Amino acid sequence: MGKKIKRIGILTAGGDSPGLNAAIRGVGKTALSLGMEIIGFRDGFRGLVENRRLKLEKATLAGILTVGGTILGTSRDKPHRMVVDGRIRDMTEVIKENYAKWDLDCVVCLGGGGTQKNALKLHQAGLNVITLPKTIDNDVALTDATFGFATALDIATDTLDRLHSTAHSHHRIIVAEIMGHRAGWLALGAGIAGGADVILIPEIPYDVECIAAAIRRRSKHGTNFSIVAVAEGAMSRDDARAFDSAEKKLERARTLHDKKEAKQELAALEVRHQGNTLRLAKQLEELTHLESRVTILGYVQRGGTPTAADRILATKLGSACAELIQEDHYGVMVASRGDSTEPVPLEKVAGKRKIVSPDHCWIRTARNVGTCLGEKE
Ligand code: F6P
Repeated sequence: MGKKIKRIGILTAGGDSPGLNAAIRGVGKTALSLGMEIIGFRDGFRGLVENRRLKLEKATLAGILTVGGTILGTSRDKPHRMVVDGRIRDMTEVIKENYAKWDLDCVVCLGGGGTQKNALKLHQAGLNVITLPKTIDNDVALTDATFGFATALDIATDTLDRLHSTAHSHHRIIVAEIMGHRAGWLALGAGIAGGADVILIPEIPYDVECIAAAIRRRSKHGTNFSIVAVAEGAMSRDDARAFDSAEKKLERARTLHDKKEAKQELAALEVRHQGNTLRLAKQLEELTHLESRVTILGYVQRGGTPTAADRILATKLGSACAELIQEDHYGVMVASRGDSTEPVPLEKVAGKRKIVSPDHCWIRTARNVGTCLGEKE
C-alpha cells in the first residue's frame, strides 16, 4: 500500500484581520506542492463542529493574496464553550469525531490570543494542532509580530494624518480612538508615525490634568490644535485602580456569591469604559477651553487589502507551517523571528499576552520627541 496522503484542516478564528487569506494561501500552496491535501473549515471552530467545509485547491487559492478578511469566515466560538441549541456545550468530542471522520492529520488554526488557548486545548485533547499568530492588536506572546498589525497601523496612521489638517484648520482637539484591545501597540505605533501630540495606552494609565496641561502648553506657544491618539483600552489612573481592585476581588473570591459580585463589578466597569473616549474629549474641552471632537476608527482598521509587509509575513508563516506539518511537528505556533520563523510550543504561548513594556524603545522615542503620554512629569 502506498504512503497515505497527508490531509490538513485549516480554519480562521477570532476577529478577522488583513493577511488571513495570504496566510491560507501560504499554507495551502506549500502543502499542495509537498503533495498534501487541504480542507478549509468555515467560521472558526464552529466549522469543525458542524462540518462546514471548503476544499482548498489550486483554483480556490488563486487570487486571494490581496483580498481582505478571510475566505473561510470566522467566529469567536470556543470548542469547549460553544452555544448549541441555545445552551453552552463542550464540543471537543464532536470535533474529535469529525477530525477522524475527515481523516485529518492536523488542524491549522489562524488566530490571536484566544485562538492559541483554544488550539492548545484541542492539542491536549489529542489532536495534531498547529497555529499562526494573527491579530491587528500585535499582542500574541513569543512572536516578533502578528499579521494584520502592519496594515492596521498604516490605516490608523493615515487617519491621524487626515485628522491633522482638519484639527489644524478648526483649532480643535481631535481625540482619535484606536483599536488594540488591552494592548497599546496600535495606538503607540500610529501615534508616533502620525505625529500625535498625546498618545494614551492601557499600559500607562493617564492623568487627564497632565494631558490638559500639555495641550495648554501648545496653545501658549501658538499651536491651537492637538491630536490625541487614545487606545480603546486606555484608562485614567482612577479607572485603572478600580479595574485592578475588581480583578483582585475576583481572584480572591471563594464563594459563588463573591464571584458573582466581583464579576458584576467588572462588567459594570466595562460598560462605563465604553464611553471613555467621549468622556475624555469632554473633560479636555472643559479643561483647555478648546473645542474637542472624537473620531472612533473602529473596524476600518481591520478591513481591506493587506500591506506588502503583512503579505510577506503571512506568506512566510503559512509556508513554514506547511513545512512543519511535513515533518510531523505539531503542538506549536509558528512565530516570526527576525527574518525567519520559529516553532514555539503552544503551552508557552497560550494565556500570555505581549503588551508594551514601560522601557520599550517606542515609549522612549515618543517621550524624546515631546509626545505627552498622559503621565505626571
Ligand atoms: O482583536 C482584534 C480586535 O479588533 C480588537 O482590537 C477589538 O478590541 C476587538 O477585536 C473587537 O472585537 P469584535 O470584532 O468582536 O467586535
